[in-house]
Amino acid sequence: MKTPIRVAVTGAAGQIGYSLLFRIASGAMFGPDQPVILQLIEAPVEKALKALEGVAMELDDCAFPLLKGIVQTADPAVGFKDANWCLLVGAKPRGPGMERADLLKDNGKIFIGQGQVIDAVAAADARIAVVGNPANTNCMIAASQAKRLPADRFTAMVRLDQNRAQSQLAKKAGVDLTAVKDIFIYGNHSPSMFPAFAHATINGQPATAVITDSAWLQGPFCETVGKRGAAIIAARGSSSAASAANALVDHVRSLVTPGAIHSIAVKSEGRYGFDANVWAGMPVRTTTPGSYEVITSYVMDDFAKSKIAATNKELAEERAFVADMIQ
Ligand code: NAD
Ligand code: LMR
Repeated sequence: MKTPIRVAVTGAAGQIGYSLLFRIASGAMFGPDQPVILQLIEAPVEKALKALEGVAMELDDCAFPLLKGIVQTADPAVGFKDANWCLLVGAKPRGPGMERADLLKDNGKIFIGQGQVIDAVAAADARIAVVGNPANTNCMIAASQAKRLPADRFTAMVRLDQNRAQSQLAKKAGVDLTAVKDIFIYGNHSPSMFPAFAHATINGQPATAVITDSAWLQGPFCETVGKRGAAIIAARGSSSAASAANALVDHVRSLVTPGAIHSIAVKSEGRYGFDANVWAGMPVRTTTPGSYEVITSYVMDDFAKSKIAATNKELAEERAFVADMIQ
């Protein structure tokens, strides 16, 4: 039996938490032979902590063989202690009519303190994945606090967007979902994100040779993927939760699977023309468990370049807006 890994999850009693924790404890995230200790962190609010007790009871009641312990806390120094993975979900969701960036002032400050505590107490091999919106910029804020952990340990989730894009392409082409490959997300987790359809394949053919309606690809396809979160809020009355939790399972599972190629938001370092200091979605290849290299070989056409410039502009504006939160 492997040594258990410690997985800290913030916002553990929230909507996403309720879909996520059971998947982690079942082995879906780290594999069927990897035991886990869940370190569940909630806001210091009586209602949230009470709800967390109920979630922990349900985890017990599942009798998951891989679940070797549960910590419940409102203290980040306890919750992130020795954590190998820190899954930062806890943050306000947006409501109808809001953009994710509208959450920035409220949510951004959560990631200052959490970034500092993670840097101080998490395991030496800690990896951090940010889901709370606006995810890219919150991730940048958390990473900026770290003096010990390198910036490439901090990733933000754009996998939900990748999954959405894959699903939309499969529907349009009338093929099974598994026929669609190499669709990657560039930029911000916002309507400006760019799903780079020109590099995708469908049954081994360029997606643009199978879906020849380029007006659809450049217009409704990009728009549907970019605005899917808002469409779900309009229909459900609250933001995506099960699909977000599923995407985080995919994000981490791909990051611990050498050879996996997938989209994550990372410090751009100027790749693909992004400002060097923003966290932007791009394709990566997992090298060793938890580590990755950015794939830089994709060539962008003029349309792609204009989309990347627009999403980069938004990321740079978000960065300027939170300048006082960055170390
Ligand atoms: P929710 O309101 O149901 O749950 C959030 C939980 O976080 C609450 O229980 C709250 O008490 C807790 N929380 C707040 N501040 C905290 C703190 N400082 N420390 C620990 N816990 C804290 O919201 P949700 O639906 O679970 O969504 C969570 C976040 O994820 C939102 O910001 C949402 O917009 C975002 N989200 C991102 C994606 C993505 O693709 N990146 C997808 C879906 C949702
Ligand atoms: C999503 O894309 O579903 C999430 O980011 C939630 C939201 O606010 O849209």
